[in-house]
Parts: sequence; structure tokens; C-alpha cells
Amino acid sequence: MSDTPVNAKQRRTFLGIILGAIGAVIAGAFSWPLFRFLSPIDKGGEAEQVRVDRQQIKVGDAHFFSYQGRPAVLLQPQAGEFVALSAVCTHLGCIVKWVDDSQEFLCPCHAGRFSTAGQVLGGPPPKPLTTYSVTIDGNDILIG
Ligand code: FES
Repeated sequence: MSDTPVNAKQRRTFLGIILGAIGAVIAGAFSWPLFRFLSPIDKGGEAEQVRVDRQQIKVGDAHFFSYQGRPAVLLQPQAGEFVALSAVCTHLGCIVKWVDDSQEFLCPCHAGRFSTAGQVLGGPPPKPLTTYSVTIDGNDILIG
């Protein structure tokens, strides 16, 4: 049985549609992760406030938490003084660690160092850690 010109044309059209659909699926599979990577992080609303029990924060200690979907830290450098900072290093975005002995933050990636106020003490970070507003509300501390 031989193909008529109409059957061959219909077959090419059908194959073209199938290949186009497969191409669209492959393009979607590759572009979705790129889209998610480039999309801004959901901050959960600009008005978000985090409430932390004041008793959780000891003098000279750091309490890590999530603020607007990003790592943050609350500390009490001196009795009654509370500071909230972003825990994201301003160099390349690693998460800083609290060093109890030296009472400063250390970035594990390139040894950037920050004071309890978030100021750069050493290393490659170009600017201080972002600070957040802190309000004392009875036995709680409100961040943001
Ligand atoms: S990412 Fe923190 S010092 Fe490089």
C-alpha cells in the first residue's frame, strides 16, 4: 500500500504537532526551575512581625529564627539591650554563626566577622548585616 500525497502531508503535520508538544514539555521542564530560582523569595508580607519570648534570650547569647523567610538572629549583648540582625552574610550570602567565646559572628565561608551590632570586623563582607527594629512588649520581643 503506498502513501497518497494527502496521507504523507497529514502524517508530517501530525508528527510536527507531536514534536512541538514534546518540545514544549521539555522547554517547560527546563524553564520552571530557572523561573523559581530567579523569583524573589516570598517574604510573607512586609508587615510580618516575629514575637520571641524574652526569657529565651540570655545575655551574651544568640537566638536564630526565620524572619520574612530568611535566617535572622536576635541577641542580648548587654542586659536589657536587644539587637535583631539578618544572619545572611553580606559577602556571598552564607549564614553567619555565633561565636560565644569572642562574642561576634563568624561567616564560615570566607571568615567574615561581624560585631554584635552587625558591623564588619574583618574579612571580605562589604557592608554590615541588615538590622531589624526591635520592640519590647511586656515579656516578649517584637522584631520588625
Ligand atoms: S560569604 Fe561570608 S565572608 Fe564570604
